[in-house]
Amino acid sequence: MILLISCNISFAQNKPGKNQDKESFLNELIGKMTLEEKLGQLTLYTSDMSVTGPVIRDTYKQDIMEGKCGNIFNAYSPEYTKKLQDLAMKSRLKIPLLFGYDVIHGHKTIFPLPLGESCAWDTILSEKSARIAAVEASADGLHWTFSPMVDISRDPRWGRVAEGSGEDPCLGSAIARAKVRGYQGTDLKSKETILSCVKHFALYGAPIAGRDYNTVDMSMQSMFNTYLPPYKAAIDAGAATVMSSFNEVNGVPASANSWLMNDLLRKQWGFKGFVVTDYTSINEMVYHGNVADEYEAGVAALNAGIDMDMQGSVYYTYLKKALENKHVKIEDIDIAVYRILDAKWQLGLFEDPYRYSNIKTAKTAIMTPANLQTAEEIAKASMVLLKNENNLLPLQATGKIAFIGPFVKNKRDLIGNWSGAGNWMQSKNLWDAVVARTAGKAELLYAIGANVTEDTVLIKKMHIQEFIDKRSKDELINEAIEVAGRADIIVLTLGESEGMSGEAASRSDITIPANQQELLKRIHAMGKPIVLLLSNGRPLALTWEDKNIPAILETWFLGTQSGPAISSVLFGDYNPSGKITMTFPRSVGQVPIYYASKNTGRPFDNNIKYSSKYLDIENTPLYSFGFGLSYTNYSYSNLKLNKTSFTADETIEACIEIKNTGKMDGSEIVQLYVQDLVGSSTRPLKELKRFSKVFLKAGESKQICFTINKEDLMYYNADMERVLEPGKFKLFIGKNSNEVETVEFEIK
Ligand code: NOJ
Repeated sequence: MILLISCNISFAQNKPGKNQDKESFLNELIGKMTLEEKLGQLTLYTSDMSVTGPVIRDTYKQDIMEGKCGNIFNAYSPEYTKKLQDLAMKSRLKIPLLFGYDVIHGHKTIFPLPLGESCAWDTILSEKSARIAAVEASADGLHWTFSPMVDISRDPRWGRVAEGSGEDPCLGSAIARAKVRGYQGTDLKSKETILSCVKHFALYGAPIAGRDYNTVDMSMQSMFNTYLPPYKAAIDAGAATVMSSFNEVNGVPASANSWLMNDLLRKQWGFKGFVVTDYTSINEMVYHGNVADEYEAGVAALNAGIDMDMQGSVYYTYLKKALENKHVKIEDIDIAVYRILDAKWQLGLFEDPYRYSNIKTAKTAIMTPANLQTAEEIAKASMVLLKNENNLLPLQATGKIAFIGPFVKNKRDLIGNWSGAGNWMQSKNLWDAVVARTAGKAELLYAIGANVTEDTVLIKKMHIQEFIDKRSKDELINEAIEVAGRADIIVLTLGESEGMSGEAASRSDITIPANQQELLKRIHAMGKPIVLLLSNGRPLALTWEDKNIPAILETWFLGTQSGPAISSVLFGDYNPSGKITMTFPRSVGQVPIYYASKNTGRPFDNNIKYSSKYLDIENTPLYSFGFGLSYTNYSYSNLKLNKTSFTADETIEACIEIKNTGKMDGSEIVQLYVQDLVGSSTRPLKELKRFSKVFLKAGESKQICFTINKEDLMYYNADMERVLEPGKFKLFIGKNSNEVETVEFEIK
């Protein structure tokens, strides 16, 4: 019966009629679909970009032509996406394929790693990089990015902190909104916008012990006050899709978690788009142990409100049987199909399935000089100056400068992990940039000094090819010492390889790898001035470095324009202004460590035995959240409120004077925090509520004013009610979470 109907359906019928509205078109289309075709729309398969070019399994090709696969990821370029779309146009109903990809920090023009970019505290720049990523990705045949990743994390052992915006919900939410705006613009029908995908819903950033994929077990208060706000912010900004996370949330894997997807995301938050799983996470429920087999996993996922199955084929394989057994309902399958077709409609794919596969656009929109310039601007804004004793930085381009370390000539690592379609060979390294910058002025010397790591077990576990200089560790160090011996000043570039952070890259030791530390200590023993440039994807424990090295610049992984950006800061063409968005611990033993901690009943006091402290280390971090230096100095004074006593509905205005007291123009990131002094539930010592980046010429002063209101003071209490509780509060404004001016106010 169904087959008979199918023979009469032509492509023209699946284009919306002239004035046909979405609902009637999609419902009509769903009415024509067989169960197999419906399950096909719930299926997402990967293509592979291999050395010989893009390939897709023959079985997937067949599935596309038979309407059994409606979505593909890891396929891009106008030519290749067109080829695949041609297959979909051979299917009975000719429903266009949706092409997704991990456009995480840029498509081909690669921007800094998200953690690095967040240190710019600049939502305009965050939106700009997402906008450019969307323009390039859409020009390259893509419809959908698996970004933004908005998982709050307070554990630098977790490798995926590299992909997020750090530890704070206020900053994280602001960046989440900016990213959604950047990817989706104001009109998804524009050929330059793509669907965003908020991930990983939910709480993926809080695995126990920082080990990727590990169990998440969290109080409802922590969830709602700290971890959930960025997801909600992205949904409120209109994010079209959501990705369920690998982890369990308090005993139920996210992809089977009906409370998360149906109750919270859809009912409470009003999310209307579709939810895709993370890679095979329906299948992985069998390992979680909440289901006996994949059949049960598929049932659990669909009933939990998961629409699309990434790569696992569980829906496709088992939902027919589950329907016959009445374990799932056809209405739920139809709703999921509707949501996915709706996304395709919004992109205009039913009108023209090829609208994103345009060779001409791809040639003109990707890696343009303007895109590269913006990438460089963002890279400069992302760096954080952690230490600068006696103003060692910026360097003068004179004398003999030795550049030593595994990141000087390196391109592969500097582009960072999750660099998607970015070609690291097109990225710019530090060496070429400093050679150009100092030409005719300074003599530059070079030695690699060390491989990123000599730990063969670690290299094997990373499953990636590390660039290795085959000489022995001692040979490399000796060469570096000889080179350093001829220099007046030494710039050492040390850190992690790109594969040491990111997915499945948790570390229990977050120091600089041992062989590089040995290099550093040997060079340090020579007694010459050293500037340490760090490349890494997570906060590192830098206690020795902080104690012994006069200047430290955190450069993260800055993407395509790494070299020129770092060189600009190094030689003072750009005044660094970034501030860290994750606390840097003194030692991994303090982790998780974060600024918005609570006082406890026995607050830290070294003189009291029974106080909350460690015997062998300070409680304080090495570098506090929000910390970062500049080549100039800023003074804060005269913090004032419009009043000191407010009713709940009144607006609180806080103003402060900030002066650039140094000799260089610069931008300062000003931060406003609040503490609720007495709550029915205990409250953090500080919570970020506002921030602003202010440009000040040398010697210039400005008054900066912020307003906050009731919403900013509310929280979820022990009964999970969102309340504003009258009483005393402290308001702080300062240069970081530790150095602040303070006033008190009261809510009556
Ligand atoms: C697994 C990762 O967790 C997720 O972030 C990514 O989007 C998917 N794989 C697809 O590549």
